[in-house]
Amino acid sequence: MLEGPESVGSSEPMRVAVLASGGGSNLQALLDRFHSPPGAGARVELVIGSRPGLAALARAEAAGVANVVVDPRPLDVDSHSAALLEQLDTHRIELVILAGYLHLVPARVVERFHGRMLNIHPALLPAFGGLGLYGVHVHRAVIESGARVSGATVHLVDEQFDTGRILAQWPVPVLHSDTPAALAARVLRVEHQLLPAVVEAFASGRDAPPLLEPIAFELVAVPGPSGDSVRRLIAPPPTPSL
Ligand code: GRF
Repeated sequence: MLEGPESVGSSEPMRVAVLASGGGSNLQALLDRFHSPPGAGARVELVIGSRPGLAALARAEAAGVANVVVDPRPLDVDSHSAALLEQLDTHRIELVILAGYLHLVPARVVERFHGRMLNIHPALLPAFGGLGLYGVHVHRAVIESGARVSGATVHLVDEQFDTGRILAQWPVPVLHSDTPAALAARVLRVEHQLLPAVVEAFASGRDAPPLLEPIAFELVAVPGPSGDSVRRLIAPPPTPSL
């Protein structure tokens, strides 16, 4: 059973913050999933962008979600931690999601949200992760490796890039004709299914996300693996008392 935050089981939606450094299409997938139907198990209450002018911030604004900029670049690690924690505490955030966030989260923040901070990565970790492997660099590395399958991974965040415990993964075929941009687009469509499903599972305390169709394989009309054979969901470590 997933160890969720303290609000699991309460009738209030889980309070979610999204940290972003880019376009925010994964943020949009969360907004679409959780803000339309009444009674959803989670709600995005805060978006933190890493610099001004990000499309992710505009998406938050359009949805009426509180949004702020915390730019880590001019800050030392203590000031960065303090700025993030102030925002997360002010909005009483229970679950933090890194969705296209390009900066290392300070250890103090990781510790505070131990087991309650997720990242989405556009490859099948532990392969193709780590420093420098973000955005189109990931997909270029996958294609150059000759791998025939890539995918999306949702994992817990620890003090390093892409090394936290894997919660859920979904495979995506790599085609011979793929460019990094074409593969990125195919993986992103899966990310938009996978991330809300994992958040939903977290919010409800269920053991696993609802069964997902292997949509990426259907998109390219090649046989896909069966859902259960490829889906992985591993319980995160117990949530420490705060
Ligand atoms: C996604 O591919 C995500 O996996 C990666 O960065 C990208 C962000 O895309 N970490 P978006 O900003 O959600 O559109």
